[in-house]
Amino acid sequence: MLIFPFCRKEDNGIIPVSDLFKLNVASHLTVSEDAPMVSILLPDYFTGMFDANEVAPSKFELGRVIFYDRHLSEDGLVSCASCHRQENGFSDPRRYSQGIYGRLSARNSMALGNTIWFGGSMGIDSMGAVRLPLFWDSRAHSVGEQAKSAFLNEHEMGLSMPEVIERMEQQSYYAWLVNRAWGDSLITEERIFESLAHFMGSIYSVDTEFDRALQHAGGFDFLGGVLPAFSEAKNRGKTLYLEHCHSCHGSLYSPPFIFEANNGLENPYTDPGKGAISGLFYERGVFRVPGLRNISVSGPYMHDGRFETLMEVIEHYNSAVQSIFGLHGDLLTFNEVTQTYSPKRLQLTEADKSALVAFLHTLEDRSLLTDSLYSDPFRQ
Ligand code: HEC
Ligand code: HEC
Repeated sequence: MLIFPFCRKEDNGIIPVSDLFKLNVASHLTVSEDAPMVSILLPDYFTGMFDANEVAPSKFELGRVIFYDRHLSEDGLVSCASCHRQENGFSDPRRYSQGIYGRLSARNSMALGNTIWFGGSMGIDSMGAVRLPLFWDSRAHSVGEQAKSAFLNEHEMGLSMPEVIERMEQQSYYAWLVNRAWGDSLITEERIFESLAHFMGSIYSVDTEFDRALQHAGGFDFLGGVLPAFSEAKNRGKTLYLEHCHSCHGSLYSPPFIFEANNGLENPYTDPGKGAISGLFYERGVFRVPGLRNISVSGPYMHDGRFETLMEVIEHYNSAVQSIFGLHGDLLTFNEVTQTYSPKRLQLTEADKSALVAFLHTLEDRSLLTDSLYSDPFRQ
């Protein structure tokens, strides 16, 4: 364990703290000496669903620096942000992400635009329900558990936690940042994860055309009504969403209604998803139901990034859901004549498909994608 001296002695005495800040922090980072203003402002219809996380701004900012810091990987080239890019809703536009030494991740990176819903990031929600588990196969239950696996993974960052701590101790800015967040400059695993949780637990997207249209219409209409601020196509898209997608992906101002499902991408599944962990046959092909906010910028889509565009995604649900054991019931239809179940065919017209795409585009939050509070703080 190494405790950093917070003030260095020079010939003529002690360097004032603000000079230390300039020397050790401001020369590397664009953060300012005062902790940033971080306030989570959710529309009324959100707050009925769950409480916003309590964010400590100085922990948030420490988490942000860790998130963007390439020093914290084996080859010094990869940070969390290499695979979770702000302009892409904190996902990766490449089908598979590049970790250390150019190694590829096994799955498509997940968007983090709704991390505010994450399980255990800060406890349980206001309804007493446990929040969303993490990863495509739900294998992590807290942001700490998840972040640890990103650091350790040999395809991602490839360091043990003592090595991460050592790397942080070698960078001059951490002593100051950790001290501001925790009152002393000791770097521990718990502090790293909690700081990351403060940063990630405050990523949320509510500044969208959809939310503005909903607020304009008086807020909580349970999605059902015609939104006057929407074009006809977007309202049509919303209706189709309610009909075919809502039962799993949720009301859009709540976590998905169903946490995980098999949506019939292939038969058999190359990557068994949850089934690989549980060993259960009927869980082969079961994956997390992702949130759809910022979906227009977070492609390619699905756990293996197989679809480039939203139109391809919709065509999958429209005409290509595979018949496979374990396929979720909402994607099945019962044939009275043959007395059998088969995958649903939605029979959408071209106009319907475009309307659904147009609606999904209204879920894009430009301010999150460009907000400097969440951007790369490094100067180089
Ligand atoms: C090399 C690329 C890469 C790096 C580096 C990386 N991630 Fe990821 N991240 C992924 C991929 C791929 C997934 C999906 C993995 C899976 O489900 O198996 C993922 C999933 C996640 C999830 C789960 C999201 C959800 O909705 O369940 C979170 C949170 C996350 N990463 C945060 C981080 C943090 C924090 C770091 C840095 C400590 C990090 N990631 C580093 C590629 C990366
Ligand atoms: C039975 C539940 C269910 C229904 C109904 C459903 N989905 Fe999905 N959706 C999923 C699951 C599960 C995944 C992740 C599957 C995977 O990656 O293997 C997914 C993934 C997606 C993705 C990719 C997200 C990403 O981050 O890569 C999009 C986009 C999507 N669905 C849109 C829709 C639309 C549009 C509809 C309605 C036409 C719909 N879904 C209906 C369960 C469902």
